[in-house]
Amino acid sequence: MDKQVDIIKATATDANLKSYEEARSSFDWTEVEKEFSWYTTGKVNMAYEAIDRHVEAGLGDKVALYYSDATRDEAVTYGQMKTNSDKFGNVLRKLGVAKGDRVFIFMPRSPELYYSLLGSVKIGAIVGPLFEAFMEQAVRDRLEDSQAVAIVTTPALLPRIPVADLPHLKHVILVTDEFEAAPGRVDYKNEMAQASEQLDIEWVDREDGLILHYTSGSTGKPKGVVHVHNAMIQHYYTGKIVLDLKKDDVYWCTADPGWVTGTSYGIFAPFLNAASNVIRGGRFSPQDWYNTIQRHKVTVWYSAPTAFRMLMGAGDDTVNQFDLSSLRHVLSVGEPLNPEVVRWGLKVYNQRIHDTWWMTETGGQLICNYPSMDIRPGSMGKPIPGTDAAIVDDNGNVLPPNRMGNLAIKTPWPSMMRKIWNNPSKYEEYFRLKGWYVSGDSAYMDEDGYFWFQGRVDDVINTSGERVGPFEVESKLVEHPAVAEAGVIGKPDPLRGEIIKAFISLRAGFEPSEELKADIAKFVKIGLSAHASPREIEFKDKLPKTRSGKIMRRVLKAWELGLPTGDLSTIED
Ligand code: WT7
Repeated sequence: MDKQVDIIKATATDANLKSYEEARSSFDWTEVEKEFSWYTTGKVNMAYEAIDRHVEAGLGDKVALYYSDATRDEAVTYGQMKTNSDKFGNVLRKLGVAKGDRVFIFMPRSPELYYSLLGSVKIGAIVGPLFEAFMEQAVRDRLEDSQAVAIVTTPALLPRIPVADLPHLKHVILVTDEFEAAPGRVDYKNEMAQASEQLDIEWVDREDGLILHYTSGSTGKPKGVVHVHNAMIQHYYTGKIVLDLKKDDVYWCTADPGWVTGTSYGIFAPFLNAASNVIRGGRFSPQDWYNTIQRHKVTVWYSAPTAFRMLMGAGDDTVNQFDLSSLRHVLSVGEPLNPEVVRWGLKVYNQRIHDTWWMTETGGQLICNYPSMDIRPGSMGKPIPGTDAAIVDDNGNVLPPNRMGNLAIKTPWPSMMRKIWNNPSKYEEYFRLKGWYVSGDSAYMDEDGYFWFQGRVDDVINTSGERVGPFEVESKLVEHPAVAEAGVIGKPDPLRGEIIKAFISLRAGFEPSEELKADIAKFVKIGLSAHASPREIEFKDKLPKTRSGKIMRRVLKAWELGLPTGDLSTIED
């Protein structure tokens, strides 16, 4: 497929990562490890390195968290973070919660969420964050599978926790001003008020459990991906070279801690790097988001393609109503970042949007664009120093450049998942191809080492013997003026094996018509290639998307084939 490669040159001169090639050629993880206090003391705990260490180094008065929502507006210092997480650790200890126990956190973003999470880590518990929009079945599946002993939540979410059916769940810790006592219920505020500020941190092994993120596969119940304290090495390092965090940065990651981006890069990476971390509660609106950047003078901003597309849809005029001049580094993750969005970002924010690729299972960023490296819009970038990525065939053989195949990572890397909870065989499956970690994504690497995402492996379309990546087609489709969002699947076809079918939601002001279908198909045919042009188009008011913004092609496919849609617990609405 012909691809026009444009390049957005690197302009940063003071980036933490001076030269990608140089860092890669002489890389040694030991050099990163030396920056942690455990390297000399032998005493390991992620939360100590993220918070306490900075307080001991004199940063106690530095703002760790700027939290705001419709009713609260607070700045929490590193010193206060230490005190509150220490107290929460003592609250759990008093309840008998111990190292290795699973403690879930199920509540909207608030400072208490961060105290609870870090306090749990301090006593060596394994934290399971749950997204606030989960309903009962999703909550039940996760608490049952993990045999959680405690959950921190709010009265509003309590009805979704089937306490009576979960005998192992001994403590429901309620964050509220109107506590009503009942067996097993713990009053967070009252306990915190009485808790000692002196906590004996649980020193753990680097390989001990830290966090448990559930992620939906295409079949079966969600899987519990287990990460360990050792992941801090990668969180710290990528925070430094990918997020490019420096001492005076005000950083904003828009993801919720219910998802891995919201923990690895919403908590661990910024705190390990002693940044000031902005947390904004409430729902998305372009005005609110721009206002958050303006108000806190955000310098580094990590968000997702769907958000950028929605901001793009809100128009350039909206951008111009705000002063966003504090921004110096913008990043994206979670789904393909359309070249059109990158070009738009450069125009309206005067910022390159840096795409980053990784997964719940990888625990940290792996393939990224760096401030000091040229960007090729549409490419995810290159593997971080200290890791190796490759495109392998279905037997685990490494393919040459420009060949599409399985995106695979050489094992191990510091933040790699260490197990799937209760499911060793599922874990082994990831490493089935000659020991490579097989991502389930298809991609290719160009001759200069940039990786280009093509789709999930089972989404790859083969039409008339030509392999087509749905991402390329979708990217082209959204460049059409009438198209708001597009999802593309392979539809079985007796003649061509599969044909390309596009589900499209239109931008405001456009009406579905046969003429419009023809025009859109022609647009792709001219803009990309004839065989990549959709033979069938169906207009939809809304497309099914996950909370992290990925259009769920498997749901489109199920609709198309009249099949059940499977587990929808991570769907947006
Ligand atoms: C899948 C992982 C950890 C980030 C949040 C999502 C897709 C992720 C990109 C990217 C294209 C991407 C992949 C991957 N994905 N980043 N930059 N470009 N696709 O984590 O829910 O575990 O999903 O998201 O398909 O396998 P996740």
